[in-house]
Amino acid sequence: MTTTQKIRRLVLGNWKMHGSLAANGQLLAAIRSGWNQSSHAAACDVGVCVPFPYLAQAESALTDSDIAWGAQDLSVHDQGAYTGEVSGAMLAEFGCRYVLVGHSERRAMHGETSQLVAEKAKAALGAGLTPVVCVGETLAEREAGRTLAVIGEQLAPVLALGKEAVAALVLAYEPVWAIGTGKTASPEQAQEVHAAMRAAVAQAGCPGVRLLYGGSVKAANAASLFAMPDIDGGLIGGASLVAEEFLRIAEAGATTRSA
Ligand code: PGA
Repeated sequence: MTTTQKIRRLVLGNWKMHGSLAANGQLLAAIRSGWNQSSHAAACDVGVCVPFPYLAQAESALTDSDIAWGAQDLSVHDQGAYTGEVSGAMLAEFGCRYVLVGHSERRAMHGETSQLVAEKAKAALGAGLTPVVCVGETLAEREAGRTLAVIGEQLAPVLALGKEAVAALVLAYEPVWAIGTGKTASPEQAQEVHAAMRAAVAQAGCPGVRLLYGGSVKAANAASLFAMPDIDGGLIGGASLVAEEFLRIAEAGATTRSA
């Protein structure tokens, strides 16, 4: 779709439950200085989603840089007796721009339904954050020929939030079978799903929503994925923990033109 050319790329790291103050300090300093020195920094948005306890560290390491930061989950509630939960307003106080919502690990291990995911996206928007809503099929669903149906079911309650909400969020397609497995979707497999997602957001009146791909993205395969017409960037797990690798993926985001 022609609008894709104008969509600004986004490369977002998802640290998952990795890190320590010492390791993060080195990683944050390396990506900050590497991206600062890159001649491509103006051409791609970059961010890292870190575990809650390290938000203050990310804020202090990345303030006044071209790298944004965010969290990996939030509560649907604003405040109250919800032990262990973290609200969007709390994340905003630590300067977060992004928050992941509905990552497949949360859907699978914490029972998050697509309806809850949509409510979390709404809560994030209410707190002034950009939710990155993750969707993706399991291997069994793909093999049963249900990929596009599953993505459609996961997207439906999010699209039902309405045009204003959809325009303000980011979507990430992450096939469950490709996460942390080293088996990335081929660019063509990813593009097929992204094209369906583009049609869905276009029908909701928001063709310019950024559609990220995630699942075993590495420096070696990033450019071929980002060359697909409806892939607007990446959600990067394991490779975001290695500064050089993450920076090379961000450079690919800045320099690869869609076919
Ligand atoms: P991966 O994870 O890059 O390690 O496959 C991606 C994700 O889960 O966001």
